[in-house]
Amino acid sequence: MINYTDKIPNNIDLGRDRVLQRALEHWQPAYLNWWHDTGPTESHAFEVYLRTATSVEPDGWAQFGYVRMPEYRWGIFLQPRDEKRQVNFGIHRGDPAWQEVPGEYRSTLRRVIVTQGDTEPASVEQQRMLGLSCPSLYDLRNIFQVNVEEGRHLWAMVYLLHRYFGRDGREEAEALLERRSGDTDNPRILGAFNEPTPDWLAFYMFTFFTDRDGKFQLCALAESAFDPLARTCRFMLTEEAHHMFVGETGVRRIIQRTCDVMKENKVEDPPDVRALGVIDLPTIQRYFNFHYSVTLDLYGSDVSSNAANYYTSGLKGRFEETKINDDHLLSEATYPVSEVVGGKIVVKQVSALTALNERLRDDYIREIESGVSRWQRVIDKAGIPFRLTLPHKGFHRAIGNFAGHFISPEGEVLTGEAWKNHQHEWLPAPGDHAYVQSLMSGRVVDPGKFANWIAPPTRGINNQPLNFEYVRFN
Ligand SMILES: [Fe+2]
Ligand SMILES: [Fe+2]
Repeated sequence: MINYTDKIPNNIDLGRDRVLQRALEHWQPAYLNWWHDTGPTESHAFEVYLRTATSVEPDGWAQFGYVRMPEYRWGIFLQPRDEKRQVNFGIHRGDPAWQEVPGEYRSTLRRVIVTQGDTEPASVEQQRMLGLSCPSLYDLRNIFQVNVEEGRHLWAMVYLLHRYFGRDGREEAEALLERRSGDTDNPRILGAFNEPTPDWLAFYMFTFFTDRDGKFQLCALAESAFDPLARTCRFMLTEEAHHMFVGETGVRRIIQRTCDVMKENKVEDPPDVRALGVIDLPTIQRYFNFHYSVTLDLYGSDVSSNAANYYTSGLKGRFEETKINDDHLLSEATYPVSEVVGGKIVVKQVSALTALNERLRDDYIREIESGVSRWQRVIDKAGIPFRLTLPHKGFHRAIGNFAGHFISPEGEVLTGEAWKNHQHEWLPAPGDHAYVQSLMSGRVVDPGKFANWIAPPTRGINNQPLNFEYVRFN
């Protein structure tokens, strides 16, 4: 159960560790300052119908009620400890899971935790202006829910830094509040988290594609031999599921609305579709291509000795490691990796140990494929002859074997010039951004009303009706 009587809600018996409690109580006001400065703009007095964790059990964890976001009960929630848990892969396989950080892995583990932690506040910063152009109270509430939970994910990583990494950890925890998404002098660590999220189509794409990268990274860390990291990631995953739901249904509702308007008015050409105030399907495809390719880079280099070391030493496992039937050492296994040789994409087998980034990326792609086929069904049902297609893995990549090459969405290797001639067919052009933003010039706040460019959801939050007052502005 979660203790809400402490200043910092927790299920780790924080009151028994005075030093840690004091350190975190010292960090808490700095966190709140960060939220005030870079959290959702002009939102501090709003009362938002949010869920708050009440326990870490899968069935009973959420309680719904109106909360002012700066008063959200951010805290530290870990899945309960399994005393029998062991290390399940790498050279320490079969040892009891670690309750403390082994000295030899200290700096590597700290780096892994800081890199994960840095993405959490970054996405809040990326999304901070979107409340001003929300398509409904329902959607406004959902983005705020995502934002407070990303804030909590930061707490999850900061707890680990404070509890297990001493002074270095405390310094890293402070630096997490100092970097800023998109800042030229002090940016966030990973590329995709410095890209702007300028409109709601980008927001839904981000929560579908990039929060799902979050899911796969958390799944790999939830296998870690370092038990506190595994337990904190397990609980974060339950929150991540909601973020991906917001993304998938958000894009689906935009597609639905576009298809409805196209059918009603018997139009197909993008200019005619735009004239009716909805987002044409080719523009949705271009946004999709952008967010997909930028997110693929987050998995890192196709062949990576770091990834191999993380695995061998037990720090970061594979997706669903314990369900895989092999030696969990990967000493002999190989894995296919693509590269560009002489103007052609060739596949070669490399040591599976060095290809773990690529493997996690492939696991992710499989899940993306099924989400995209669910979007496609909306278009098919409307009888519209348009196919959403996943671009080739090598398209628009800046990290790994495809970096520096010019790959078309179909997977042809082009010259830089040929690629640039087509880029505005493949990626959002300035005109696409301007059009999408023109649709989102103000917020829709009448309960039960939705902007013209998006269909209502099938149901409300926590069984509330669609015209429920999900946010009170005061
Ligand atoms: Fe997160
Ligand atoms: Fe998330």
